[in-house]
Amino acid sequence: MMSKYEDYATVSKAYDETRVPIGTEILLGCLGAAGAPLADIRLLDAGCGTGAYSRAMLGHVGWVDAVDLNEGMLAVARAKLGPEEAAGRIAFHQGSIDALPFADETFDAAMINQVLHHIEDGADPAFPALAAVIAEMARVLQPGGVLVINSCTHEQLHDGFWYYDLAAEAREACVRRHISAERLAAMLTAAGFQMRPPAPALDAVMQGEAYFDMTGPLSEDWRKGDSFWALATDEQVARAEARVRDMQAAGTLEAWFQGRDERREGVGQFTFFSAVKFTE
Ligand SMILES: C[S@@+](CC[C@H](N)C(=O)[O-])C[C@H]1O[C@@H](n2cnc3c(N)ncnc32)[C@H](O)[C@@H]1O
Repeated sequence: MMSKYEDYATVSKAYDETRVPIGTEILLGCLGAAGAPLADIRLLDAGCGTGAYSRAMLGHVGWVDAVDLNEGMLAVARAKLGPEEAAGRIAFHQGSIDALPFADETFDAAMINQVLHHIEDGADPAFPALAAVIAEMARVLQPGGVLVINSCTHEQLHDGFWYYDLAAEAREACVRRHISAERLAAMLTAAGFQMRPPAPALDAVMQGEAYFDMTGPLSEDWRKGDSFWALATDEQVARAEARVRDMQAAGTLEAWFQGRDERREGVGQFTFFSAVKFTE
């Protein structure tokens, strides 16, 4: 279950500095489908990381329970949201999201932001560990409760991130870690959810301005902003760096970057899937 390909104990600090919680307005729109008024919602942030999305939701919902496996990520989240924790508006829990310390039907809504591909399913194309997480979401949500999953489609992994092309093997490994949109929908339906119409693909970028740094791949700190790089071997990273340097020397880097990045406008980087738990 545990995320093995990224060492979050050490990247948690850099991670927090390189990511922004994009799509919060889409999330809020999805949460609007929960049975309760937004301000009364008890929300689960499953795989909260450094708490960026919890923080974004706190001004809108009634109460947040934030769960993560990793101590380092939780420590950063706690430090950031200390006043809200003291005020009793958020509680942090260390644990795995396939075995939550909550009673059945505790939550009005749950969100899983950029976590699915960290669930360890090995090479099993049926994604059984992920299915266990979805079943756990179905258990802790009330009937009529909303589940929002923010993830990348295979198309977005191919065309939504300009630098993925620098390490094609890592991109294929990344695609294999992501369940397809069709299979995810089937898994949610089988677990007792009804899919809601998809929100439009979002082409905002998660690393903010840093994303547009064409020489970013040359910096280890920059690479820490996306766990994609942890899927590349040292040799593949070195080849990616060499390619950037060669293009830079030839004066072709900017044109190449723009050509790749144009594709993002078509497909976006992230998709918010949302589903409602069936009522009896
Ligand atoms: C890419 S980060 C996303 C963090 C946060 N949701 C965000 O979007 O900023 C993935 C997070 O999932 C957590 N994670 C991975 N597998 C988990 C599991 N089985 N249970 C709980 N957390 C898990 C990792 O520790 C990490 O903090």
